[in-house]
Amino acid sequence: MSLRKVALRPAPPWVWLSALALLVIAGCGGGEKFPQSTLVPKGDFAVMVDEVFMTTVKWAAVVFVLVEGALLIALWRFRQRPGLGEPEQVHGNAVLEVIWTLIPAAILALIAVPTVRAIFRTSELPEDALEIEVIGHQWWWEFRYPNQLIVTANEMHVPAGRPILLKIRTADVLHSFWVPQFAAKRDAFPGKYTTLWFTTDSVGTFSGQCAEFCGLQHARMGSLVVVEPPEEFERWVAKEQVGSPLMNSGVVTWATPADSIVAAQDSVEIRGRAAFMAGGCLGCHAMVGTPTAGLLSLQGPNLSHLGGRQRLAAGILAQTPENLARWLREPQVVKEGSLMKLPRPLTEDEVGALVAYLRAHR
Ligand code: CUA
Repeated sequence: MSLRKVALRPAPPWVWLSALALLVIAGCGGGEKFPQSTLVPKGDFAVMVDEVFMTTVKWAAVVFVLVEGALLIALWRFRQRPGLGEPEQVHGNAVLEVIWTLIPAAILALIAVPTVRAIFRTSELPEDALEIEVIGHQWWWEFRYPNQLIVTANEMHVPAGRPILLKIRTADVLHSFWVPQFAAKRDAFPGKYTTLWFTTDSVGTFSGQCAEFCGLQHARMGSLVVVEPPEEFERWVAKEQVGSPLMNSGVVTWATPADSIVAAQDSVEIRGRAAFMAGGCLGCHAMVGTPTAGLLSLQGPNLSHLGGRQRLAAGILAQTPENLARWLREPQVVKEGSLMKLPRPLTEDEVGALVAYLRAHR
């Protein structure tokens, strides 16, 4: 065989299968390196789903070992040997057929019982839950808290220990809300709600991912769930209420008149607000202290407390001044196809003013 032929020969199937298996196994890990693993459940809903999954895996493992073991024994024990001739030919065995029909039926029944129980338990909505409206957009998530009267984007804060009830829908195409460590996926449809709930005691930040193909930037439509002790959550709510469209139509009522004077004279505030209006940001974004503060149905995320968020552009960039400047300068380079289209390029002065202004609003 020539060298050329050797080089062109396709790899044997086991190479491809092993590579595929390694990839699958790598994707299943948990912990820091693989934060979106369903195998490390952090809430009661996820634990119920995980129990059903593990029950199925255990039964599948038992069946695999027994069937493959019997196959290997048969292959070895009844293999062709010199001088043995043709083996006895048999057709049909009623006893065996009944056994191998009954055993799988019994195993399926054993899996069905916990599965059906989990389906019923996870579809019962919890009482006394904190309600959050989840709205999918191309390509970011909006979160509204109808009882706390706040609106935010991409980062959902929740108190530890209290049931959270999500009412999910979309503003445009189909999406699917999924935070693997808390709950299952739920599709987002226009004009109707789907629901999902979870309770967790794990304080920390957990990441989620849109799980329904929704266009060019589907893979970069992330979300974060920040689980906090209840007091910390209350502080976050109080902060987010300032300028919320759901509260006093976004008009800020100052705690003291002095606060409003300080804000009115703050140069970061003045220059930033001017750039926000002149640069066209207010065409798509609600922002505290501007004419859009009270608007709910704009195309882009509410930016009133952007400085308090950990990430930018639905999870793809860490919240740093450099990244925010990059996103403002070249949104179509950072996130191609995004609806963030500037009416004109921003000047460097405007970018600087906007970065300081947006980050100052925590
Ligand atoms: Cu939204 Cu995929």
